[in-house]
Amino acid sequence: MDKLQQIYDTCKNCTACPLHQTRTNCVFGVGNPNAQLMFVGEAPGEQEDLSGTPFVGRAGQLLDKFLFAVDIDRSDVYIANILKCRPPKNRDPLPAEEDACIGYLREQVRTIKPKIIVCLGRISAMRLIKPDYKITREHGTWVEKGNFLMTAVYHPAALLRDPRKNEEMLRDMKVIKQKLNELQ
Ligand code: URA
Repeated sequence: MDKLQQIYDTCKNCTACPLHQTRTNCVFGVGNPNAQLMFVGEAPGEQEDLSGTPFVGRAGQLLDKFLFAVDIDRSDVYIANILKCRPPKNRDPLPAEEDACIGYLREQVRTIKPKIIVCLGRISAMRLIKPDYKITREHGTWVEKGNFLMTAVYHPAALLRDPRKNEEMLRDMKVIKQKLNELQ
């Protein structure tokens, strides 16, 4: 059976942390299983919990606009989150929830083998790049980790709160597109 499907089948029945009690859907991930570029957000929000798909709410629609602006097709990338189940009232993930869930993301990355991983926001960058990541200061900087090139950008929800950051986001996204082109 398809490896991603196998991971999903385990994930959708996961009871490793209390968030499974309040989920409507396990929000596993979406996109191209052979993507060179993978985006990793924080955790599902309400719309994602209801639909089972990451980044379909307001923040997701803004992400789509930035992808369109730099000519990256959403169907060419893979999008997932650190947590697969929605935290109540969209609060920040607890360390224990991240610990319980991160194995699914690791397996997704091992299976998809993207060349570039982009953290969407502080929570993802702190988990995947380094624990003291400062998104305001360090977004758009690049690190090589294992077989991946990694960077972080502002979370689209942060852009909704403060559209003055849109310009920096566009700049970061253009560099992501350029790095992607360099892989071809
Ligand atoms: N915010 C996230 O971090 N992930 C989603 O899937 C939706 C909103």
